Amino acid sequence: MRARYNKVDIDTLKENKRFLNSKEALQEVLKKKINNNTKLYIEIGMGKGDFLFNKAKNDKDNIYIGIELCLPVLALAIKKISRYEENENIYLDNLYVMSFDALEICDYLGNFKVDTIYLNFSDPWPKKRHEKRRLTNEKFLEKYKQVMKDNAKIEFKTDNRELFEYSLVSIQNFGFKFLEVYLDLHKADVENVVTEYEEKFSKYGPIYKLVVTK
Ligand SMILES: C[S@@+](CC[C@H](N)C(=O)[O-])C[C@H]1O[C@@H](n2cnc3c(N)ncnc32)[C@H](O)[C@@H]1O
Repeated sequence: MRARYNKVDIDTLKENKRFLNSKEALQEVLKKKINNNTKLYIEIGMGKGDFLFNKAKNDKDNIYIGIELCLPVLALAIKKISRYEENENIYLDNLYVMSFDALEICDYLGNFKVDTIYLNFSDPWPKKRHEKRRLTNEKFLEKYKQVMKDNAKIEFKTDNRELFEYSLVSIQNFGFKFLEVYLDLHKADVENVVTEYEEKFSKYGPIYKLVVTK
């Protein structure tokens, strides 16, 4: 993802109280905020945050954590979310963001388990030699499995046919069960929170979606 940014944005991100800069900071927040009924939702590769903002805004009793590898993209997300909050005169104290590689998710979450993992428009990494970077590669699925509650789900959306087909096979071979498969999500009568990529690319073709469980 190409992003315009500067050092000031990154410094601002680091000072923002919803930016958690360590696993200790994350676990401290989860310890404070999670009780028996609280659900924990994670978006991996959150980009600029529209999806997460809208999910968290409409579900204030549950916790949303966005993970984004690229710090400058996260800085833009924080700016955007803060702008939305100012415009709407709200502050979402159930939304946090972090920057790390999703492969480290088990270490970050410790004993905390998630209810849903969202993978929205993950980078397709089309070259075979980059297959292991795809967020539906078995190396990632193995990590997700460890942090998912028994009945937890992964929700995956993409506009990329090759990544969709790859993910179908990868998820099937891994042994997760398919709950829902959409070949043209926008024509289906289901609730859908749109992401930045989805907004931009859905005019060129269908959006594919998978919902899977352990
Ligand atoms: C194509 S963008 C999609 C952004 C957003 N989800 C959307 O739908 O608009 C994918 C994002 O995933 C992030 N990403 C890729 N690999 C990742 C990883 N291993 N861990 C965390 N984030 C990752 C990238 O930095 C990029 O910002």
